[in-house]
Amino acid sequence: MNVLVVGGAGYIGSHMVACLAQHGADITVFDNLSAGHRDAVLAGKLVVGDLADTLALRELFATQRFDVVMHFASFIQVGESVADPARYYRNNVGNTLNLLDAMCQAEVKRFVFSSTAAIFGEPQAERIDESHPQRPINPYGWSKLMVERMLADFDRAYGLKSVCLRYFNAAGADPYGRLGERHDPETHLIPLVLRAAAGRRAALTVNGTDYPTVDGTCVRDYIHVADLSEAHWLAIQHLLAGNGSAQFNLGNGQGFSIRQVIEAVERVTGRQIPLEYGPRRAGDPPVLVADSARAKAQLGWQPQFAELETIISHAWQWESRSAP
Ligand SMILES: NC(=O)c1ccc[n+]([C@@H]2O[C@H](COP(=O)([O-])OP(=O)(O)OC[C@H]3O[C@@H](n4cnc5c(N)ncnc54)[C@H](O)[C@@H]3O)[C@@H](O)[C@H]2O)c1
Repeated sequence: MNVLVVGGAGYIGSHMVACLAQHGADITVFDNLSAGHRDAVLAGKLVVGDLADTLALRELFATQRFDVVMHFASFIQVGESVADPARYYRNNVGNTLNLLDAMCQAEVKRFVFSSTAAIFGEPQAERIDESHPQRPINPYGWSKLMVERMLADFDRAYGLKSVCLRYFNAAGADPYGRLGERHDPETHLIPLVLRAAAGRRAALTVNGTDYPTVDGTCVRDYIHVADLSEAHWLAIQHLLAGNGSAQFNLGNGQGFSIRQVIEAVERVTGRQIPLEYGPRRAGDPPVLVADSARAKAQLGWQPQFAELETIISHAWQWESRSAP
């Protein structure tokens, strides 16, 4: 099976490439390396190119036949999307349209899309399932919801079948220590706490301690990047089996507060984390936890690394490779 992994040099995409290689797929990665890393592509062929380049896309689809396209490439920072929405709509929506156009021209009809919990906005329920209202509160979330909308229309008009996977907080690293999270700047909690543990940051800033949660800090649902990759593999099988387009929320269904994550990091690393306290960040809901019952029932997905300490210890294995 030939799989095109767009954004496959990034954090989640590179773990997906490793997962596809394990399943024996033929892999082509298309990435402009704006946030990705050449050495994170452990298998397949890397084509360095930008989704804005429609000619490069046409060439890519003309030279090879793909059974499925996976799309991880987008800008990912919520705060930046508020400050510079044009950049986000251009890359996350406009450039995705370029990709879908190229697929339709080449008659490639299967697509797996990296969507996000941010399409839901303020949670109206303790656990968020697929029927939750979709009211994003920032341009990042809107950009992903717009692509979901386009995909529904492309299915109706052109028969393009897609699976949208809405991740909650992707975390952890390759269990074999080959890959990990390398965002710059890093905005995700677990790598930031681990960098403080490794002495690569002076302290970790906890934003907001007065949320209506168990200890006043924000609660999130952390899902291991390897479990996420396996869900994508099952999504490909779902499409290959001739099923229709679908959407799935992906998380472990269990929330952990920032303080609980810090305590777990202290247990795993045996190091104390220096802390600072700051104000709440705008647009941070108190609690975000997934209901992934549909993915379990329809894809047969079962997370293997659901324990928070396992997620942290794999991430620590990666972060501590150069720790003092
Ligand atoms: N990390 C999370 O917790 C999380 C949560 C929900 C959704 N997502 C989504 O998952 C996807 C992957 O996230 P990530 O954390 O791996 O991000 P990442 O920044 O590590 O990876 C994105 C990759 O896409 C590439 N890219 C970006 N724009 C491109 C373009 N125009 N042309 C070609 N390549 C381009 C980058 O170079 C990078 O390698 C994103 O779409 C993100 O919105 C991530």
